[in-house]
Amino acid sequence: QAFKMSSGKTILVTGGAGYIGSHSVIELIDAGYDIVVIDNLVNASMESVRRVEKIVGKQIPSYNVDLLNKPALEEIFKKHKISAVIHFAGLKAVGESCELPLLYYKTNVGGTTNLLEVMEANGVFNLVFSSSATVYGTPQFLPLTEDHPVGSCTNPYGKSKYMIEQILQDISSSNKKWNIVILRYFNPVGSHKSGTIGEDPQGIPNNLMPYIAQVAVGRREFLSVYGSDYDTPDGTAGVRDYIHVVDLAQGHVAAVRKLDEQCGLKIYNLGTGQGYSVLDMVKAFEKASGKKIAYKLVDRRPGDVASCFSDPALAAKELGWTAKKGLDEMCEDLWRWQSQNPQGFKTVKN
Ligand code: WQD
Repeated sequence: QAFKMSSGKTILVTGGAGYIGSHSVIELIDAGYDIVVIDNLVNASMESVRRVEKIVGKQIPSYNVDLLNKPALEEIFKKHKISAVIHFAGLKAVGESCELPLLYYKTNVGGTTNLLEVMEANGVFNLVFSSSATVYGTPQFLPLTEDHPVGSCTNPYGKSKYMIEQILQDISSSNKKWNIVILRYFNPVGSHKSGTIGEDPQGIPNNLMPYIAQVAVGRREFLSVYGSDYDTPDGTAGVRDYIHVVDLAQGHVAAVRKLDEQCGLKIYNLGTGQGYSVLDMVKAFEKASGKKIAYKLVDRRPGDVASCFSDPALAAKELGWTAKKGLDEMCEDLWRWQSQNPQGFKTVKN
């Protein structure tokens, strides 16, 4: 591990044991930042941080802290000189959010206001926020640009992301010290090249690619393809903008650099601009894994939109960032993780 110049800046990563958080920690350390991870481990395992330490060859201070525990959060800011925060922590299952809206608003919105209060009290005003294309609701036009209307999303998960964006707009207007970059993710897939970390959903995966990967290792019998009567090229659901999680992670490094420009509040799509249907993804994964993926065409999933993909031009222009990895690499890297870890991190206690 060549000696890396440290920027001398410490970044607090909330939800840093999670799928996108752990991949982002690797890229941030490679870019010369020091990292502190907090995670309440409701949907992640500290094992992923241990494996990140092996990849980057250094220790990462990590704490089991819940954003709803303000004194514990204060402790972190007392213990470490935090220069910026990347805020991933939150619940993200669309279906679950419809069953447990209060849990989602308390965790996602309440957790964020706690974080913002503690940041302000400690003079930390640099924030990158993990938002989602779901705030656009049903696209009125495609590809989606950052000025597409937001807020029409119907599920509490998507609404919580929209509410947080609104909170960030308001604190930015009220106090110019805030530097905030909001990143709207499209569909993250794939894993770090090592195959030692990856997406490890608890229970039945909601998202397409983890489900396909679990079919490939025999944990699921077949994939249910939600809807085959969409007006997409092959009739199946969701033309979606799948983006390699390492590309997404590098977008966070670019966003942290943007904060140094005293940028006020900026919003960027993190996507590839290229959409693929469900069957495109099945075929790409079969090619990468050499496994046949059994599937059944079933009814649409309530709330799904036919097509959703980004115009990533603004991030290219203002962050100097574009996604580089294609579909084959996304599927090859996902397969390496899932085939080497059929049960995900489950084999290890927290
Ligand atoms: C993709 C396509 C499904 C599963 C969701 C959240 C969004 C963000 C990303 C957090 C759709 C189809 C899926 C399956 C299927 N999460 N599908 N069978 O719905 O674009 O976005 O995840 O920020 O907020 O809404 O992603 O992976 O769930 O679905 O046919 O078993 O795959 O219908 O067309 P989605 P997805």
